[in-house]
Amino acid sequence: MKQDFQSFHANLSALDDQAINPSANVSLEQLVDRSRRNLLKGGMGLAALGFLGGSLGACRSAVQSESLIGFKGIPTQLDPAFDSVQVAPGYSARTFFSWGDAVMADAPEWNPDATDDWQAQLKQAGDNHDGMHFFPFPENPDSHGLLVMNHEYVNPPLHPNGMTFTDGKRPLDEVRKEQAAHGVSVIEVKKDAQGQWQRVMPSRYNRRISGMTPMAVSGPLAGNDALKTASDPSGREIIGTLNNCSSGVTPWGTYLVCEENWHNYFVNHDAEDMAGRVSHKRYGIEGKSLSKLYGWETADLRFNATPDPTQPHGGHVHEPNRFGWVVEVDPFDPQSKPVKRTAFGRYCRECSVLSLGEDGRMAFYSGDDTKGEYVYKFVPSGRYVAGNDQANRQLLDDGTLYVARFNADGSGEWLALVHGQNGLTVGNGFADQAEVLLNARAAGDHVGATPMDRPEWVAVHPRSREVYVTLTNNDNRGVKWLTDKANPRPVNLHGQILRWNEKGADPTATAFTWEVFLLAGEQPGAKDAEGEPVPANLTGTINGDIFSSPDGLAFDNAGRLWIETDYGDDEPAMQAMGTNQLLCADPRTREVRRFLVGPRGCEITGITWSPDYRAMWINVQHPELSFPASDGKTRARASTVLITKDDGGVIGT
Ligand code: FEO
Ligand code: CA
Ligand code: CA
Repeated sequence: MKQDFQSFHANLSALDDQAINPSANVSLEQLVDRSRRNLLKGGMGLAALGFLGGSLGACRSAVQSESLIGFKGIPTQLDPAFDSVQVAPGYSARTFFSWGDAVMADAPEWNPDATDDWQAQLKQAGDNHDGMHFFPFPENPDSHGLLVMNHEYVNPPLHPNGMTFTDGKRPLDEVRKEQAAHGVSVIEVKKDAQGQWQRVMPSRYNRRISGMTPMAVSGPLAGNDALKTASDPSGREIIGTLNNCSSGVTPWGTYLVCEENWHNYFVNHDAEDMAGRVSHKRYGIEGKSLSKLYGWETADLRFNATPDPTQPHGGHVHEPNRFGWVVEVDPFDPQSKPVKRTAFGRYCRECSVLSLGEDGRMAFYSGDDTKGEYVYKFVPSGRYVAGNDQANRQLLDDGTLYVARFNADGSGEWLALVHGQNGLTVGNGFADQAEVLLNARAAGDHVGATPMDRPEWVAVHPRSREVYVTLTNNDNRGVKWLTDKANPRPVNLHGQILRWNEKGADPTATAFTWEVFLLAGEQPGAKDAEGEPVPANLTGTINGDIFSSPDGLAFDNAGRLWIETDYGDDEPAMQAMGTNQLLCADPRTREVRRFLVGPRGCEITGITWSPDYRAMWINVQHPELSFPASDGKTRARASTVLITKDDGGVIGT
């Protein structure tokens, strides 16, 4: 089983790393002249940009005082058998919610031999916990809330003997269990009489959303021909959400589920069709044999997207068009139907993170985590008005999708993906706005967006609205995309974090100034185990504790930036990094301090707090040994971990 697990994760990493972007418009340094002209046309000259950059820099140094970080950092965890979570001195961590734990009141107890069937799985915690948010109840916000989290994908140990095939086919019961283990868990949580956080059971709020849950569609693609299939001729009801990586929240208290590597679940065997079908090809849908990793199409025809002219709407050829969206979920209404919001555009969306202006205008930032893909923001046309819930619920169906260009001079532009603008015309292959949104990647190619080193999470500073993005890594920028200032390493194994300020701190601005916050990697001058200097591309600019492959990213309300990592801790280049980590950065001084290390083989992801910031939850995804039992024999389980300070204080102090 262990071999199975490791080879599955090796395949998964290889897929994450697979570049699909065919665009040749991306040698950014060559675009500087064009962007300069556009900027000047837009009334913002280079001198003004330089002044803005300088004044922000001065501002930063003027406010530098004592560090925001109060805890004592911990060392890297190099033990190959480490199977626990270790936190900074004065803090405690305890497992809170693991794969298979009961969510619904009638859920059976988790079977350590993984023999629970798919009906049981539909009532239990899903696998591979990822993005997460704590929604407080207004009456007791610091002691009562709903913890809502994504279950991104499944590990082979979901089943007693891993993922099996019989005569080239997946058993339907296994596929159903895998679909049931995706999606979202909503769990009610409350402090008990001793002040300890507990899960509430039973709860009217507890809910599982999965790869089998019916969802509504809204926005420009609702009812569009491109969303119609043999099983949904209306194009208005989609079964399930998949590969739910990170997430977001709205000002009106709903949760935004993001659909990341959904293409791995589909196959299109018709090479000729695929060659002309941008909505498959540009997203890397498998064309030859089994769908990547899962082989669901051998048991559930909906995942075979090969066109079938004998079926209405070509059978399931449009099914992949129904994934890659943002799904809005109301955690406080367990009967509510999740809604796929198509105005946000379709890509492999990592996250959807809000920036809210004082006047109620909004932006939702997203990374498209594939090599050479883009950073986006969606700006609703309307404004958020507190208390006007009915009207607020309509805000996500109408707005403008933008894609980012990071210029070499530190300026940046948001390029509108609007039909008829920036060359997004019928003549260039975009019939209408629905097609621009459906094929957002191709639209981004067309307007000259910057191909990035796998954009993952975005975080917005709670006061300045400065925006940060993790670019996790990219082992080969290839010949199509030269290196550029934002993605400066041709073989980038450790990744970087960028930050930018929108013009006027306005979330809806179309111009920004940006800089590299840090390049991850070892310290300059570091030596490897043999005493040889570490190659230059493996050293970074971290002021403090080292890490690789930043992924999860979030600010607390004091402005501490929390960084979570996702790298293969068994890879040769990662030997100095130890197991995956949670670190804390002070954005003013750029100091980075290590707060937590996880068990072998895991990724640390998902982060949220109680409103008083005295409880923090993080997720340990795909641990490899026997975490959280940590007894050397029990099946490992993805788990949410609760972190508190022993003196009851604020996390990070
Ligand atoms: Fe699901 Fe890009 O991490
Ligand atoms: Ca991630
Ligand atoms: Ca990652």
